[in-house]
Amino acid sequence: MQNIVVLTGAGISAESGINTFRDANGLWEGHDVMEVASPQGWRNNPELVLDFYNQRRSQLHTVTPNKAHLDLVTLEEKFNVSIITQNVDDLHERAGSSNVIHLHGELLKVRSQFDEQLVLDWKHDLVLGDHCEHNSQLRPHIVWFGEAVPMMDQAIKITERADILMIIGTSMQVYPAAGLIQYAKHQTPVYFIDPNPAISPTEHLTVLSEKATTGVAKVVDELLG
Ligand code: APR
Repeated sequence: MQNIVVLTGAGISAESGINTFRDANGLWEGHDVMEVASPQGWRNNPELVLDFYNQRRSQLHTVTPNKAHLDLVTLEEKFNVSIITQNVDDLHERAGSSNVIHLHGELLKVRSQFDEQLVLDWKHDLVLGDHCEHNSQLRPHIVWFGEAVPMMDQAIKITERADILMIIGTSMQVYPAAGLIQYAKHQTPVYFIDPNPAISPTEHLTVLSEKATTGVAKVVDELLG
């Protein structure tokens, strides 16, 4: 079976009703991203950060996977599919995708400040005073700006083995995630699906300048023949 690697960004979840990051003057739900998504922001105002992610978590309970998430699952009939997502939502998992790597963490998990390997499932609000077994404050299990991306090594290995690469709904502005494309073999066909595609043309690249729900359907139809 051939390996398909799919890199997704906020755009794939846009049609489920989750706002992308860079579409509102650089603000994320009204906040400067550094205020709510950086270690400095956490030190300065942990309550604001917790409240912000609590809102994102409760919103997640109100949305569902869209056709693009679901169409990617059908690729598993004929291919080994690995999804590498920058999204912190769980819509790929809920759609039914089997192999999902979250480069930037997960909204439905929290971790200990004392031991970052101590990760817990978390479906409700997180507040100051919610402690791990070492009596240390729990924080969102999110990779904030300026923090290392622990899943990157695994993502690179998977991308190196890609026979086909799909990139969906990402502005390709945030590294190291945006650099993953460099690890695909030179001759690997790349499909880029985004209504506002930020990518330079190359030999093996097919760009579909459209929304995820329509663009993914076209590529999946082509690949499943
Ligand atoms: N279908 C597909 N793509 C869409 C849609 C849609 N319906 N609507 C918007 N887009 C595209 C936009 O054109 C843009 O290229 O989604 C992309 C969203 O870009 P960003 O908001 O920058 O999101 P992303 O690339 O995922 O951001 C990367 O930045 O803030 C951090 O950690 C956060 O994971 C995030 C990372």
